[in-house]
This record gives sequence, C-alpha cells and structure tokens, in this order.
Amino acid sequence: TPDEIEALRATHISEYPDFPLPGVLFRDIIPLLRDAAAFRTVIRYWTSLLPDDIEYVVGTEARGFVVGAPLAYELGAGFVPVRKAGKLPGDPASLSYDLEYGSAVVQIPEGSLPAGARTLIVDDLLATGGTAAATLELTRRFDVEVVGVSFLLELEGLHGRERLPDVPLTRVWSLP
Ligand code: PRP
Ligand code: ADE
Repeated sequence: TPDEIEALRATHISEYPDFPLPGVLFRDIIPLLRDAAAFRTVIRYWTSLLPDDIEYVVGTEARGFVVGAPLAYELGAGFVPVRKAGKLPGDPASLSYDLEYGSAVVQIPEGSLPAGARTLIVDDLLATGGTAAATLELTRRFDVEVVGVSFLLELEGLHGRERLPDVPLTRVWSLP
C-alpha cells in the first residue's frame, strides 16, 4: 500500500551531511538496495505508477542503472545505459551538464533507440535536474517518444522538475 511504501522511505534512505561537498545533504539508497524484500516491493510499486507499453528504459550511470534495469525487466522493456564520458565504444552522442555537486559529460550508445520508440527516462534521484535534463535532451536526439521521466526520490527544494517542464514526471518518494 502507499502507506507501506512511504514507511520504507524513512527506514531505507540514509542521510549524510556535507557529502560529497560542504552544504550538500547526501541521500543514500544503499539501505533499500540491500534489503531484498524492500527492494522488490519498491520496484514493483514503482512499475504501477508508469505508463503502459514502454519499449525502452533509459537510465543514467551509476545509480540509474541499479534502479533502471530491474524496472525495465519488470516492464518487459529494453534497458539503454547513459554513461559517463569515455566508457562507450563506437560513436556515442554526448552532452555536458551540471549537477548538484559538480559537472559531467554523459553519452548514449550510437544506434541504441529506434525512432518513435516509447521511452521512459529513469534515475534514482532528482536534485537540480541537470542530469535528467541532459539525459532527456540526449534521448530526444533519437526522435523517440519520451513517455515520461521517473525517479525513486525527488528533492523538491532543488526545483529539478522546473527543468523538465514538457514531460510527465512521476516519483515514488519526495522530500522537501
Ligand atoms: C546523482 C544521482 C542523479 C544525479 C542527480 O548521480 O544518481 O543521477 O546525481 O543530481 P541532479 O538532479 O542535480 O543532476 P551522480 O552524478 O552522483 O552519479 P552516480 O549515480 O554514479 O552516483
Ligand atoms: N545527487 C545529487 N544530489 C544528491 C543528493 N543530495 N543525495 C544523493 N545523490 C544526489
């Protein structure tokens, strides 16, 4: 039930002040990942929030892989990894972006998404939205139908959703 899911947030996300930089309150999802029953419960609940007929789940390295792959598996969708620069062979598409505590370049494998495919973008956490906005822009270069962006946890105070104005957004949990 939604109440049970909400209770899991309090027990399965831990907080680290001033990591990785002073002033950042880091939210760690490892307590959820390592609890077999809770992880399965949350992934299954998450799938119930998502649109039908998703063909591809796009997830961003590294934590977006850990939540995106089981979601794709449950949905019967393919999984496409968006990687940090320098990891992909061939001629990947690239984009640089800023996140809450730094900047990075993300890349998507060449030829990884067919035009028109119903595609969902997933990550563990929405903070400033820099990562998600970059992933969205990169994904759209493939002329797919982005049916949504979805997160395990939204940090509302960082207003990341304002950087994703033109796409349906869902999340399992949110924090102020
Ligand atoms: C974290 C998180 C999101 C991003 C959110 O990833 O997993 O991808 O930050 O921040 P933003 O909304 O401000 O962009 P990080 O780059 O730390 O990499 P990791 O998944 O490898 O830990
Ligand atoms: N990624 C960006 N901001 C974060 C935070 N506060 N906690 C965990 N991951 C993050």
